[in-house]
Amino acid sequence: MTTTRLFAAVGATVALAFPLALASVDARQMKNASEGVYTAAQATRGSTLYDTSCASCHELSKFKGPEFVKAWTDKPMTELHAAVISMPMDAPGSMKPQEYADIIAYFLSLNGYPAGQAELAGTDAAIKGVKIDVKK
Ligand code: HEC
Repeated sequence: MTTTRLFAAVGATVALAFPLALASVDARQMKNASEGVYTAAQATRGSTLYDTSCASCHELSKFKGPEFVKAWTDKPMTELHAAVISMPMDAPGSMKPQEYADIIAYFLSLNGYPAGQAELAGTDAAIKGVKIDVKK
């Protein structure tokens, strides 16, 4: 009798605690862009790639300041990444994953996010791990 009640209690606790535990693990693994998620050298490469492959169609102001803040901040980096890899408009996905990451690094540098110690990789796992937080 007592044993049955104990098991029921343990069961309910596990059922409640498990989804909460998963949610907090996700939040902890996400790194904010303002913590430094790319390198300065990478942003320089991204700038060159942007000039070659993007600037013919876009004003840089689309990716800098208020327009960037409105479109891409307070969101996971996956959203900006999805838009960037759908480009250039005339050849979607034609660049290397690392090149797309370099362009994102350039955009972060344009918007005052600091460079860090490690490059932003172009893999889904790396992109998923970053949130473009609102800068204070
Ligand atoms: C041949 C022209 C062309 C080139 C080259 C081009 N784009 Fe675009 N891009 C467009 C058009 C057209 C749109 C849709 C209208 C808009 O949002 O300006 C767009 C939209 C976007 C968007 C916004 C998508 C959204 O969901 O809001 C991003 C981000 C973007 N481009 C990034 C880039 C990057 C980075 C490059 C270089 C790798 C690039 N584009 C090259 C034409 C181009």
